[in-house]
Amino acid sequence: MAFPQEIVPELISYLKNLERRGIKSLYLDAATSELNVEPESSRVTPDHPEPEPKDTPVATPAATASVAGLLAELETKVKVCTECGLHEGRTNSVFGTGDPATKVLFIGEGPGRDEDIQGLPFVGRSGQLLTKILAAIDLERKDVYITNMVKCRPPNNRDPQENEVRCCEQYLKVQIDLIKPRIICALGRIAAQWLLDKTTSLGEMRKSEHAYRGIPVLVTYHPAALLRNPGLKKAAWEDFKRLRDILTD
Ligand code: URA
Repeated sequence: MAFPQEIVPELISYLKNLERRGIKSLYLDAATSELNVEPESSRVTPDHPEPEPKDTPVATPAATASVAGLLAELETKVKVCTECGLHEGRTNSVFGTGDPATKVLFIGEGPGRDEDIQGLPFVGRSGQLLTKILAAIDLERKDVYITNMVKCRPPNNRDPQENEVRCCEQYLKVQIDLIKPRIICALGRIAAQWLLDKTTSLGEMRKSEHAYRGIPVLVTYHPAALLRNPGLKKAAWEDFKRLRDILTD
């Protein structure tokens, strides 16, 4: 993939920032070799080192393009991932889609049958409901980013198991760090419990405010739960109105 040279300094500084926050140097190494720039270690230390880049995300077109590039690079790794047994049954992995510069990241559980076939998240019945709910709060799918806890379909749509979530969390963590959403919306218990590191019920979690590494987390019902139990729709609608208010603040 060719990167425009003018974004190189900004990209390197961004990647260094990610590294300082615990993200592995893998991408920095990959990017520096691909960009044909000198690796950090071979440079002479300047008398006046660069100031620490601020943590504030810079949603310039160049930064957005570099995040999109890094997400695409990560997606290629997910496509060939064999870290847990779920890869054996996959037709396609489902990495996630949407705007890398979005304010809101939705995290579901794992791909179902339709998602496995299409390689895209939330495209089946649950996804159609999610799309309608988003429209009701004036959001289009292209404005948000949607992904899942696990990137390969659990057989017969069972819940992802603990070890599968643990194998796959490395990808989700990088997605969150790259996208840096203003808020994360956890769709259902599996995503909420992982993000909040709790074993509390969804009903309890959705009543309180939470954060994942400083990013506010709004917990709501999974769209599949709303299809199974339409009685939950009223409560879910309250959650999505809260999300709309947060995003328009
Ligand atoms: N359910 C999920 O949790 N994710 C999808 O992508 C589809 C259904």
